[in-house]
Amino acid sequence: MEYLLAGRSRREFLSTLAQAAAFTLASRTPAAWAQQGISGPNSLKAHAHRAGLLTGFAVDTNLLSDPTYARILVEQASILVPERALKWVPLRPSPDKFDFTQADLLVDFAQRHKIHLRGHTLVWHEAIPDWFDSTVTKDNARRFLEEHIAAVVGRYKGKMQSWDVVNEAILPKDNQPGGLRNSPWFKLLGPDYIEIAFRAARKADPHLVLTYNDYGVEYDNDEDAERRKLILDLLRSLKSKGVPLDAVGIQSHIKAAYPATIGQGLRDYMSAVRDLGLQLFLTELDVNEDDLPYDDVPHRDQTIAQTYTDFLNVGLANPDVKAVLIWGVGDSHTWLNNGPTHHRKQPNRPQRSLPFDNDYKPKPAFFAIRDAFDQRHRSGSNTKKSNPHKADHLGI
Ligand code: G3I
Repeated sequence: MEYLLAGRSRREFLSTLAQAAAFTLASRTPAAWAQQGISGPNSLKAHAHRAGLLTGFAVDTNLLSDPTYARILVEQASILVPERALKWVPLRPSPDKFDFTQADLLVDFAQRHKIHLRGHTLVWHEAIPDWFDSTVTKDNARRFLEEHIAAVVGRYKGKMQSWDVVNEAILPKDNQPGGLRNSPWFKLLGPDYIEIAFRAARKADPHLVLTYNDYGVEYDNDEDAERRKLILDLLRSLKSKGVPLDAVGIQSHIKAAYPATIGQGLRDYMSAVRDLGLQLFLTELDVNEDDLPYDDVPHRDQTIAQTYTDFLNVGLANPDVKAVLIWGVGDSHTWLNNGPTHHRKQPNRPQRSLPFDNDYKPKPAFFAIRDAFDQRHRSGSNTKKSNPHKADHLGI
């Protein structure tokens, strides 16, 4: 007996299911990507190269054993960064032990496939191990910090292009001098923790591009304007003291529905960074779409893609931007879907923030990013005279 499912006969229904499964599987193969026109000369890394950029993703090292995931990294990326593997929590199971297992996986992978690497991050107020509070004191904090940096940077000496040495040091609402965040390291060492970290990193690997990385500088609003000013003040003060510092990371966690524009504020900030003789990286690019007031997937995907375009057209106009790192590969693993769903505005709607969907099929966001690289190439931004005061360590 033939019965109906969703208005269709069972045979029709099963055939549709089989087609959908075949499509899903097919969309996960390199052959399918070639058909979709995204491999080889059509890959992100090839388009980025023409625009004078490195590009790639934050890597979840647990996923490196997934052949599709690994294939995308090899096919699309010229630079990678670990999303978590080089933070204190995975590296420091106890005060006197280092565990490099996860980080080594990525470093070996990148070396095998000749992909550049960024390190992230040596000093941050998050991802601090449980033992930290009861073990690290004002008396031993400097030794802990310097030994950590010597061991971690030293282990990967010559294998990293750049390191995020200090991450997110500014938080005006903490009411500390210079707008510094009242972080564990600030509480233990005062503002000096920043220069201690940069000096230790330079000592451990003299050829690294040492980066200060922060968020909240992208929008034309008062909050971001204040953060931009405070970060620039910090960078100027470090430079004036001869602290080794080569680059600034703009995290680039942007939003699909946000009342402020991205424009002059970011342009001026990037020019000011450039005037300090520093390179620029867009380090953690993704689009938070929690605020979009509609569920329709194609509509959301188009808006997300347009958000990437609007941001990158400003961000990539500066010739000292040397790399674009996207904070994840496929939507099923974005950090924006982490944590309790009640913290999200759309608790029943996983975010579609990244260039690939749950089945690693490229989405409009992928093509928007690639088009933005082409736009930079066409406009000649990458061939404009780069800052004469610094060495171009990235060699691109
Ligand atoms: O793996 C465990 C899982 O077993 C457990 O059930 C679950 C419970 O919450 O936690 C899982 O670990 C989480 C991990 O992400 C994997 O999802 C950690 O709690 C969570 O802290 C961790 O978050 C990472 C976060 O940094 C802290 O390290 C995010 O993936 C990562 O995207 C995020 O990245 C930061 C940058 O380093 C700095 N800039 C902001 C950016 C986003 O927060």
